[in-house]
Amino acid sequence: MNKLLILTLSAAAVLTACSKQDNEVASPDGKIKFAFDNSAEGLFYSVAEDGQQIIAPSRMGFVLAGNDSVARFDVIGVERSSHDDTWETVWGENRYIRDNYNQLTVNLRQKSADSLAVNLEVRVFDDGFGYRYVFPEQSRDSLIIMEELTEFKVPAGSKAWGMTASDPYYEDYFHLKPIADLDTVRTPLTVETGSKYLAVHEANLTDYPKMDIIGLDSVTLKARLVPWSTGVAAYIPVPFATPWRTVIIGDRPGELVESSLMLNLNEPCAIADPSFAKPMKYIGVWWEMHLGNGTWYYGPDHGANTAHVKEYIDFAAEHGIPGVLVEGWNIGWEGNWPTNDHFDFTKPYPDFDIKEITDYAASKGVQLVGHHETAAWTKNYENQLDTAYQYYADHGVHNVKTGYVNVLMDGKEDHSSQYGVRHYRKVIETAARYGTNIDNHEPVMPTGLQRTYPNLMTQEGVRGQEHNAWDPDGGNPPEHTVVMPFTRGLAGPMDYTFGTFNFDNPVYPFARVRTTLAKELALYVIIYSPMQMASDTPANYAAKPDAFQFIKDVPVDWEKTLVPDAVIGDYVVTVRQDRNSTDWYLGAATDENARELDVKLDFLEPDVEYTAQIYADAPDADWETNPTAYTVSEKTVSAADTLPLHLAAGGGTAIRFIKK
Ligand code: NOJ
Ligand code: CA
Repeated sequence: MNKLLILTLSAAAVLTACSKQDNEVASPDGKIKFAFDNSAEGLFYSVAEDGQQIIAPSRMGFVLAGNDSVARFDVIGVERSSHDDTWETVWGENRYIRDNYNQLTVNLRQKSADSLAVNLEVRVFDDGFGYRYVFPEQSRDSLIIMEELTEFKVPAGSKAWGMTASDPYYEDYFHLKPIADLDTVRTPLTVETGSKYLAVHEANLTDYPKMDIIGLDSVTLKARLVPWSTGVAAYIPVPFATPWRTVIIGDRPGELVESSLMLNLNEPCAIADPSFAKPMKYIGVWWEMHLGNGTWYYGPDHGANTAHVKEYIDFAAEHGIPGVLVEGWNIGWEGNWPTNDHFDFTKPYPDFDIKEITDYAASKGVQLVGHHETAAWTKNYENQLDTAYQYYADHGVHNVKTGYVNVLMDGKEDHSSQYGVRHYRKVIETAARYGTNIDNHEPVMPTGLQRTYPNLMTQEGVRGQEHNAWDPDGGNPPEHTVVMPFTRGLAGPMDYTFGTFNFDNPVYPFARVRTTLAKELALYVIIYSPMQMASDTPANYAAKPDAFQFIKDVPVDWEKTLVPDAVIGDYVVTVRQDRNSTDWYLGAATDENARELDVKLDFLEPDVEYTAQIYADAPDADWETNPTAYTVSEKTVSAADTLPLHLAAGGGTAIRFIKK
């Protein structure tokens, strides 16, 4: 076995070579200060805001394989730069994003003949910071990384919302725990310090494993890279830049959601003409199968049959919903399908006439949303990638949902490993060549790549609505959806697929959607995704046309997003301005407790009257006993008003504001 080398990135020279100030970089507004420090033990960093310590001295560095000596580093130089510009998103929660930071680059070199050069790049924004390790061009052309030493030491008494790393799909709950009680958890990891909210995550995960976090003691969060089956974390070429390690710092939970730090730390759009990456709503032959009505596999109850799909297309056309997802259309679903390594992405079942379906859809202005369930047999998928995307493109299908239901990829590697990261990237890049957008289920945790590849529209990686159909735990508790915006949601769009209008579940009576109908509507504003599913069946929507109107109206692309009021795990109020009109939308949701909220409408344009179309819980609504009791009403309001909202237990309110 290789001996491990602990690169402590010690930079003893810095104290003599640089004045104290040289080891600091501040945010543009001067409030956040990031400092690096060299001690005999290695390289550390610390962060303060307004003089208050946010990150106590925390270790940086790597464990490498294949080297038996411990390296020491000299500081070769310290470079500084500043940046301030505003860029326009192809789609997103905000149209314009200001990218404003001060950068410090510390050039480090190992003290040995075979000296390794590493640059520490730090960017400090007004709402947090990010840093990464860059291996510049040098004599070696590759490195084997076993582990990072990266730590984040948070203030004493902090607690964090962590999700266990034991679920390969990130389909678990986030729980608030003292730092020492976090075993291995996923990021985004949201820390409550008592006075601040911190979100620890990463940006631009490229050719590298995901970073999980271990709570080492009551204050120390330590990085843990998800390894290959060989035990190696990453085989990297040199030159190479690791993903950014990021911390957003907020005084209120909403600031974490409003931050664009992760997107700013990704590369600009790599697609020459990304105009095909269009946000959209979709319905699908999907929920009925999860409820046990109909099958993915071919047989008497096969859901994806031409006649049935046409019913969905008719409904979509009638209501202006652009997409219809169809799962179970292709060969491979027989038996215990996650064991099937032979899904065929160009062979439909005999009762699914893809030409007839796509011609029919096109004639009605509707698109088929394709589906590639790979069961995580990625080699089988990669062997068919080009033919599969060409096949769909030939039928006018340019939105594809992918899936990876299997604990390991190819029976061997973790979804979150470098192996997984490489595979997902290959799919995104291939799809982009065919002008095709991706909705990726069972992904590696998103890190903002949609800035570079806007065809990566949305991803799962969340305990979504499907669990409410069949999970033996009974379904996601009402609290789940008021935790998610401040945890998983910080990583980017979520294909949660809400929209339930009928809460009956005869086949799996132990499980249910644990919200009210009004809260299902509010989630379209609260949980962001540029591809939003209306997951219930056409029949259930047709039965409640007044409530369905909100799903028809609600945008999937936003000019601006604010989260003015929230307590993580209790309630949330989100407001967003439509990108294509002057309308504003509001979503408010609560946990299992009923709540009265007063919402200031000061986000609206001043001195203008708006019609508020209000979709609310009826006075006797309750997620458990009376979920479908809702009211639809109108009111004239202005920015000077405060609107009282009643949210039922497990309930919510959705509002559209239209300028008069
Ligand atoms: C899991 C996905 O999350 C779900 O949406 C899909 O229906 C099934 N896999 C089958 O592919
Ligand atoms: Ca899933």
